[in-house]
Amino acid sequence: MEGRDNEGKGPEAEEGRNYCGGLSKSAQKKLLKQQKWEAKKAEKKALEKEQKKREGERKRKEWEERLASVSEEERGKLIESRKSLRKERMEQRSEERERNTERLSRAKECGQKIVIDLEFSHLMTPAEINSLVQQIMYCYAVNKRCREPGHLWLTGCKGEMGTQLKRLPGFDNWIIEKEDRSYMEALEDEKRNLVYLTADSENVVDDLDSSKIYIVGGLVDRNRWKGITMKKAEEQGIQTAKLPIANYLNMSSSQVLTVNQVIEILLKFLETKNWKDSFFQVIPQRKRCQADSEQSQQVKGVDSEEKNDQFESKKQCAQDSTRI
Ligand SMILES: C[S@@+](CC[C@H](N)C(=O)[O-])C[C@H]1O[C@@H](n2cnc3c(N)ncnc32)[C@H](O)[C@@H]1O
Repeated sequence: MEGRDNEGKGPEAEEGRNYCGGLSKSAQKKLLKQQKWEAKKAEKKALEKEQKKREGERKRKEWEERLASVSEEERGKLIESRKSLRKERMEQRSEERERNTERLSRAKECGQKIVIDLEFSHLMTPAEINSLVQQIMYCYAVNKRCREPGHLWLTGCKGEMGTQLKRLPGFDNWIIEKEDRSYMEALEDEKRNLVYLTADSENVVDDLDSSKIYIVGGLVDRNRWKGITMKKAEEQGIQTAKLPIANYLNMSSSQVLTVNQVIEILLKFLETKNWKDSFFQVIPQRKRCQADSEQSQQVKGVDSEEKNDQFESKKQCAQDSTRI
């Protein structure tokens, strides 16, 4: 298959090989790329850790200076008020966690089933796999905050993808279906209800049907693997459909969205039953044509505020996904 190294591809592939330490030239290149990426990731992590440590030290110093500048009595009051603030915050968090657990457990019983198909890790670079893992983390956090969460499934959750997901802090506690098996195996009895969402389908989703199971391709590929999910669904004899983007928006580029955008649109639609609002809230302005962008900018202040909110909420979501 294209994009993979040429080991085991017959004599004609041998010509392109240049052995070093038992690795072909392309495998060496791939290894080097992976090593560089891992080194960069470790460097970034160390930098973030250092920044966090410095910020903690700065706050501690600020607090100590404040305590030193007031009378004994004031100091006691400050310490007490800090303690009760912490307690309050912890109680709020624990209540929120309980509410989330309740909502997500209910979604497991009766929520819209949405599958993320993770059987494509062999087609992605380490950086793309990492990006997909981040997107899944974001999807989980968004779902957790929904009034009406979906019943999310991760299928084909093994190999490199599985390893990376399991490394996420708190992943073991996620209230989500985690399946090593493919959706075809795990949902064997539901084959007639499976609908693969793919931008290449001729069918358009009109409404979300609670008896159907919508599948999203877990792929970050800059559409390098064009049509791959459509082909897969056709070969498996399952239904396909695309989102009704063209009915509501003019896109400046292709209508192929990222995994987290598709999941977020589905979740918004479950709450609002309104495709237009769901698209406008999720699809970034730069992907939409001028006219559509202007329409959404009618109340410009509000829009930019919303963007800030979205940025904040993305940041918050990434932090939240480490908890249930
Ligand atoms: C980054 S895309 C992957 C594109 C990939 N080349 C393919 O053939 O599907 C991630 C996934 O989001 C879903 N998706 C993206 N855009 C979509 C659209 N306009 N309608 C329906 N599903 C879409 C598909 O399930 C797709 O596999």
